[in-house]
Amino acid sequence: MSATDGISSPRVLKAGGSLSGNVRVPGDKSISHRSLLFGAIAEGTTTIEGLLPAEDPLSTAACLRLMGVEISPIEAGGLVSVTGVGLDGLQEPDQVLNCGNSGTTMRLMLGLLAGRDGRHFILDGDASLRRRPMRRVGQPLASMGAEVRGRNAGNLAPLAVQGCRLRGTVVGTPVASAQVKSALLLAALTADSETTVIEPAQSRDHSERMLRAFGADLEVNGEMGRHIRVKPGGTLHGQTVVVPGDISSAAFWLVAGSVIPGADLTIENVGLNPTRTGILEVLTQMDANVEVLNRRDVAGEPVGDLRVKQTDLKPFQFGEEIMPRLVDEVPILCVAACFCDGESRISGGAELRVKETDRLAVMARQLKAMGADLEEHEDGMTIRGGRSLSGAALDSETDHRVAMSLAVAALMANGVSTLARSEAAAVSYPTFWDDLERLHC
Ligand code: S3P
Repeated sequence: MSATDGISSPRVLKAGGSLSGNVRVPGDKSISHRSLLFGAIAEGTTTIEGLLPAEDPLSTAACLRLMGVEISPIEAGGLVSVTGVGLDGLQEPDQVLNCGNSGTTMRLMLGLLAGRDGRHFILDGDASLRRRPMRRVGQPLASMGAEVRGRNAGNLAPLAVQGCRLRGTVVGTPVASAQVKSALLLAALTADSETTVIEPAQSRDHSERMLRAFGADLEVNGEMGRHIRVKPGGTLHGQTVVVPGDISSAAFWLVAGSVIPGADLTIENVGLNPTRTGILEVLTQMDANVEVLNRRDVAGEPVGDLRVKQTDLKPFQFGEEIMPRLVDEVPILCVAACFCDGESRISGGAELRVKETDRLAVMARQLKAMGADLEEHEDGMTIRGGRSLSGAALDSETDHRVAMSLAVAALMANGVSTLARSEAAAVSYPTFWDDLERLHC
């Protein structure tokens, strides 16, 4: 059973109390996927420390194993080794590549597989992934000559990829999406000549950093690094990758620590790549008390510890400009907005509607069930905070980030809440409920 099948009974969430102590969030999900994928097509062994042992990276590993890549067992706290098969060594799988709930797996796989001349691949996923748009990858890949077919004119999984020789070109991504960009960078490695990928706004740059560390001939140019040129034909070399804690998982503790009376939390070893730190800027705008300690660089990514203490918060406003740098943190920021006096406003977030769920609709529905005063907009939400929330019968609607956001809201509500499909948290943070119990006092 996967965490998003949702057949267990609802979790009881008690309100009140405080949070204190230290927590190490699990490894960054984006970096974990990339370390497996790039390790798979490198020459030699890649050793990964801190790989996220959650359902989404497990989906990536399972797909790669079906194509002949040896990956050691993925267990919490253990090192993972990937025996690379080289740039052209992936075998045609006998079975469907099941990407589970993971958009990153499916989209990056499309780019990875499109240039495997003469090989055929079928990709599928769970009910949520089958609803998510894939043409955003298939269409720019088609301009390189790729053949990707699927339901709804190629937009929806199950998808079929007929591997073929790709042409190097100049290609734009239709949205500022690191998943789309990374798919094109992977495809570019197997093209017949140089490719330049241009994105409309800069998205997270873990692929660029890691591909260069593996030895790819990749150059980042243009305003905010939005033009990425890749020369094919080189060899990637297996590396040691150290995965920092995921700031998107730390975000639940950052908001919980900011709003829960008396809270004082230290979140250790958090990735602070500037393309991911929008949440810290919004918390600063809110006058939150967050300190960054022990800033350091670990294997090409900036890292630090974050100490957060509860304080009175101001409302926030943010829009399209910052969205790629905090897109996964919007659900928990909706919760933060409920607990500060005044009106907060989120705009430029239409992408939220095509995540694991329609996160604007789901968060609006669930927070309204607790009595929140808010309006949902096409591309965002207006939330009038300061009103107390009541415990309610809540539902993650199978979305991991919704599950964890609602857990924080429930701690601050009057009375007990229940949360259906709480096990969805395991998609990105399998130990979330244990950490919550341990920090709760
Ligand atoms: C991811 C990029 C983001 C993010 C997702 C992970 C990645 O998606 O929402 O959780 O690893 O590249 P988009 O690139 O589609 O915005």
